[in-house]
Formats: sequence, structure tokens, C-alpha cells
Amino acid sequence: MSIKLPEHLAIIMDGNGRWAQQRGLNRVEGHKAGAKIAENVTRWCADLGLKYLTLYAFSTENWKRPKEEVRFLFQLMVDYLKDRLNLLQEESIRIRFMGRVNELAEETRNFCKFMEDETAECNRLNLIIALNYGGRAEIVDAVKKILNDKLEHIDDAIIRRYLYLPDLPDPDLIVRTSGEKRLSNFLLWQSSYSELYFTDTLWPDFSKDELTKALEEYSRRKRRYGAVIDNEE
Ligand code: FPP
Repeated sequence: MSIKLPEHLAIIMDGNGRWAQQRGLNRVEGHKAGAKIAENVTRWCADLGLKYLTLYAFSTENWKRPKEEVRFLFQLMVDYLKDRLNLLQEESIRIRFMGRVNELAEETRNFCKFMEDETAECNRLNLIIALNYGGRAEIVDAVKKILNDKLEHIDDAIIRRYLYLPDLPDPDLIVRTSGEKRLSNFLLWQSSYSELYFTDTLWPDFSKDELTKALEEYSRRKRRYGAVIDNEE
């Protein structure tokens, strides 16, 4: 079948811990395997011609995890991206971070800024990494900035302008792996009309076939945005 590509695909990469446990490994081994899949998916999306890929790497709730795991996750992300900077530039992949990045350690903040600056001119695929991200936190932060700017007239367009990345189009498709069927505070404002796709596959087992299946399912969906579409069977 011909595939109708989403412009913006967002992914909740879930199930790393369970994947590791099933193999008698430490949870961090699941995250390592998960990072490799994040890399593969980024490449597949760039080759397919998607414009935006957002990966939920660390939520505002993930601080509840053991300190060691949290430390490992940040280190993994930094090492992974640092090692692939040349590759990202060659493939013209622009990195952007979204979330309360200002709350992170100075070193991490600087690293995020460095990666964004180094890939600012890249224009094939935008890879957005949701880091210390929460959908509610994003809306709270937007409201605070709106109050600070003393705006009186508020509508959808104004709120959007105060989100972390106002120019980011809403995700057309949100994929969540590992069988959980919820958004977990991901892109709450932006997901109003997103198509949702859930698979039982754990993130480290997510394959190109799985991605194709999700995109085929998306192609079959009829998006109405609350309207009635003429000529619909
Ligand atoms: C969910 O699995 C996964 C995460 C919270 C972290 C995702 C991060 C990565 C895959 C690494 C990111 C790296 C880059 C380069 C973006 P889980 O631990 O919640 O699994 P479980 O539900 O089975 O315990």
C-alpha cells in the first residue's frame, strides 16, 4: 500500500526495563539497547523523509527513579549524541531539546545548547528530544510567561506561542511501545488531534517492520478534526 507519511511522529519509548529484566540483565542494559533503537528509528525516519521526530527521553516524573538510573540515563544520552555529532551533521539532522532544560545540571544544559548550535543549519529531519519534559509543566510554564508579559487577550494561538517550541507542528502520530495505553504527560497541548498507535513490542525490540506497520495504520486513519468529511464511505 502507499504510505501517507506523518509530518511529525512522536514516540514514547517504553519497555526498556522490562526488556532487560526478561533477559536477567540490569535495567540500564535495556536503556543502552533502547538508545541504539532510537538511533535506528531516527535514521529510518530521515530516510523516509519525515520532517519532525520527537522522542520522549526523560519526563518530569522520571526523577522518581533510583538516582543511579537517572544519572545513567543522562550520561547515556550525552555520550550517545556526542559520539554521533558528525553523523548528525552529515545526515543534516537538527537536534532540539524540549522541556525544563534550565533545571538540569549546568554541564547538561551546556551540552544541549552545544548540540543545538552545532546542528542549527541542518534541515533534513528535526530530531526533538523531550528532556525533563512534562505536558502539564509546559502549560504551566506557558501560563507563567503569559502572566509575566501581562497579556489580556488569550486564545489558542497565544498559548501555542508560549510553548517550549512554538514552531513545532502538532504530532500527526504518537506511537507508544510496550503495551501501555496512555500518554503519560506527553505533548498534552499538541496531541489534541494526534492519531495514537500502541504496540506490545518493547522499545529495544522495535524494528523497521514495526515502524512500517505503524505508518501503514496511520495511512488508513481518516482524520476529521471534529468535522464531517464529504464522500466518506
Ligand atoms: C522507558 O523504559 C524508557 C525511558 C524512560 C528512557 C528512554 C531513553 C532512551 C531509550 C535513551 C535515550 C537516548 C537518546 C540518544 C535519545 P522504562 O525504563 O520505563 O521501561 P519499563 O517500563 O519496562 O520499566
